[in-house]
Amino acid sequence: MKKINVSVKEKTYPVFIGNSILDLLPNLINDMGLNKNLFVVADENVLELYKEDINDAFAGYSPKIYFHKLKSGESTKSFDHLARIFSSLIKEKFGRDTLLVAIGGGVTGDLAGYAAAGYMRGIQLVHIPTTIISACDSSIGGKTGINFNRLKNIIGAFYQPELVLIDTKFLRSLPVEEINSGVGELVKYAFLTNRNFYNYISQNFEKIYSFDTNVLNKLIYESVLFKGSVVTKDEKESGLRKILNFGHTFAHAFESQANLKLKHGEAVIAGIISALHLSNKTGLLSNQNLEGLIKLPLKVKLPDGFLTKDFNSIYNFMSGDKKNRGGQIRFILLSDIGKIITDIEVTKNDIIYAIEKTHRTIKNSD
Ligand SMILES: NC(=O)c1ccc[n+]([C@@H]2O[C@H](COP(=O)([O-])OP(=O)(O)OC[C@H]3O[C@@H](n4cnc5c(N)ncnc54)[C@H](O)[C@@H]3O)[C@@H](O)[C@H]2O)c1
Repeated sequence: MKKINVSVKEKTYPVFIGNSILDLLPNLINDMGLNKNLFVVADENVLELYKEDINDAFAGYSPKIYFHKLKSGESTKSFDHLARIFSSLIKEKFGRDTLLVAIGGGVTGDLAGYAAAGYMRGIQLVHIPTTIISACDSSIGGKTGINFNRLKNIIGAFYQPELVLIDTKFLRSLPVEEINSGVGELVKYAFLTNRNFYNYISQNFEKIYSFDTNVLNKLIYESVLFKGSVVTKDEKESGLRKILNFGHTFAHAFESQANLKLKHGEAVIAGIISALHLSNKTGLLSNQNLEGLIKLPLKVKLPDGFLTKDFNSIYNFMSGDKKNRGGQIRFILLSDIGKIITDIEVTKNDIIYAIEKTHRTIKNSD
């Protein structure tokens, strides 16, 4: 098992990464002196698939424990499901001395994390991510929230957990589209970090799909290490942390335009392809570099008809992105691996060009 400490202003919390480590949770809670009344918010599919493992892990856990089952899917990141968690917490008489444990993917972590931030002005939180996206990305760094009016993550809070436990055993049951989706965020880290990481993912790409534990553990470890270091320097995204949104301005617009029906990480793949085209159009990225770098995101096979041709509508959703300042859309672009430039303003024509190019590139790669 590996351990990474993530430090933010008010605390340092550990992230444990390993295979079959769920059983360690009760001891960790004990050793760290965390609250012992557990309110577990768990994704319905994970509860069904891992009922025995979860029951075994908590068997004999004498203090209070309650399971709140979450409907799976992006539409669960809503006020309605947030209210249901609050109702359960109140009905089951959970007080300030509660430890909320989120077991599931990014949807569970974002929603349950926001509930933990709000209930009684904040209760302790533990993330147990069960998808690649949540393991390598969303469980780290404290962003929590819900969608509203078709806008992604438009309401939320920064709220850091007490600990994150990443048990890669959970990943074995992920269907292929969820692995694709996870690969979206991993590919993002390949562009943000360095060429070694980019080459490692490229060379071991198929091994992700065959659940090679060594490869998955390494990719998740490197991503968490990188994200943790960025969050430490800029917890509330006033500067450096913006780089973690590489590809996301496009991705969120693709998701909104498709009424939040796309897989997030698949939208991120399309968003990265768009960001590469836009980097090229603005003169930051040479044609030769574009040709080389685009190969990695194109390895992910996106579903047929993935992007609509209604480019204007996608553009309009981009105008509503929460990262805009003064109504101006700003992009995170790059000139090479690890050379990221933030806050780039471009023309509407350039944006439409990048989306159109993405549409064509994805279609031609089939
Ligand atoms: N907070 C952040 O910093 C951050 C970062 C990246 C993404 N996100 C958010 O994360 C969400 C996407 O995360 P996600 O892809 O994990 O989505 P998800 O939570 O919806 O999980 C995807 C699907 O996988 C199923 N699932 C979960 N674990 C499983 C397992 N072990 N085996 C089989 N099936 C399993 C779920 O039931 C669901 O159907 C988006 O809402 C996105 O906005 C947040």
